[in-house]
Amino acid sequence: MDFTTLAAEIGRLKEEKDAVILAHYYVPAETQALADYVGDSFYLARLARTLPNQTIVLCGVNFMAESAKMLNPTRTVLLPDPTADCPMAHMVRKEDVEAVRAQYDDLAVVCYINSTAEVKTWSDVCVTSANAVKVVRELPQKNILFIPDMHLGHYVSLQVPEKHFILNRGYCPIHHKMVPAEVEALEMAHPDAVVIAHPECTQELLQEADFIGSTKQMIDYVAKSDAKEFIVCTVIGVQREMMLATQGADKRFYFPETTPICVNMAKVTPDKVLACLRDNTGEVPMPTNVQAATIPLERMLELSAK
Ligand code: 13P
Ligand code: SF4
Repeated sequence: MDFTTLAAEIGRLKEEKDAVILAHYYVPAETQALADYVGDSFYLARLARTLPNQTIVLCGVNFMAESAKMLNPTRTVLLPDPTADCPMAHMVRKEDVEAVRAQYDDLAVVCYINSTAEVKTWSDVCVTSANAVKVVRELPQKNILFIPDMHLGHYVSLQVPEKHFILNRGYCPIHHKMVPAEVEALEMAHPDAVVIAHPECTQELLQEADFIGSTKQMIDYVAKSDAKEFIVCTVIGVQREMMLATQGADKRFYFPETTPICVNMAKVTPDKVLACLRDNTGEVPMPTNVQAATIPLERMLELSAK
C-alpha cells in the first residue's frame, strides 16, 4: 500500500474508532507524519491526559504508552509494536533502591519517566529530561536517589548543587555510545556548527556541548538560534521536526555516526499503526500496581506546573 492510501485508511479508522495518534520525535519520520501530535516525553504524558478521544495510539516505546494509560485509565491505549521497549526502563534493581532508602531519612527517589510502572512504584516523583532540574529543585528533600539514568542524574546534580545525589548505573544505550571524538571530528569538518546534546549523553560528551536539553528544547533552540549549522547529539528522529521548525532558513544538521537510531522507536512503522487501529491489537493493559505507579507521575505534573 502506498503512503497516501495508508494515510487515508488510517484517517478513516481514526474517525470510526474516535482515535488520536501521538508520536515521539524518535519514531520514523513517516510515522511522525501520520500523527495528530508529535512531542517529547513530557509533552506526550501531559497531553494524553487532556484528550477527549476514546482511543490513543501511542507511537513510541512501552513506558510512554504505559504512562498514557495510567494517566487515562478510561481510555484504550494502543502501542503499534508491543515489543518496542526502552532497555533503560529496566536498568535499576529494587534492592538497590531499598538499600539507599534504609540509609537516608531525608531522601526522595526521583525516577526518570523512562522506567517501567514497577520502577515507578519504588519512587517518590517522576521527571522527564525537560523538567528534571525544575522538579528536583522543588523537592523538600536534601538527598536525591536518581534512577535509572546515571547520565541524566549526573547532569541534574550539576544544575542543583545544593542537593546531595546518589546515582544509579542505568543508561540509554544509544546516547551512551556517542563519544567526544566523533563530535570533535564533526567540529573539524564544520567549524561554525553549534553542538547541542540530550542530557542522556555521557558527561564527557556533554562537556563538548554548547546547549543541553530535551528533544523539544533542542528543536526550539535550533529554531531560535542565529547559527546555520548544528551538531546534534541525540537520536536522528528529531531531524524531521528540526527541518520543519527551520523551514526556509537553510539550516544544516549533522549527527554522530555511531548509533543515532533507537531500534525500539524504529519499530513503530506506519504499517503497524494501521494494523493496530484496524485489528484492535497492541492494547496496553493497565499495570497491576497502577495506583502506586501513578502517584509519582501525578506529582511530576503538579511540581512541573509550579
Ligand atoms: P525526551 O527528550 O522526550 O525526554 O526524550 C528522551 C528519550 O529518550 C525518550 O525515550
Ligand atoms: Fe530508551 Fe534510549 Fe530509545 Fe529513549 S532513545 S527509548 S532512552 S533506548
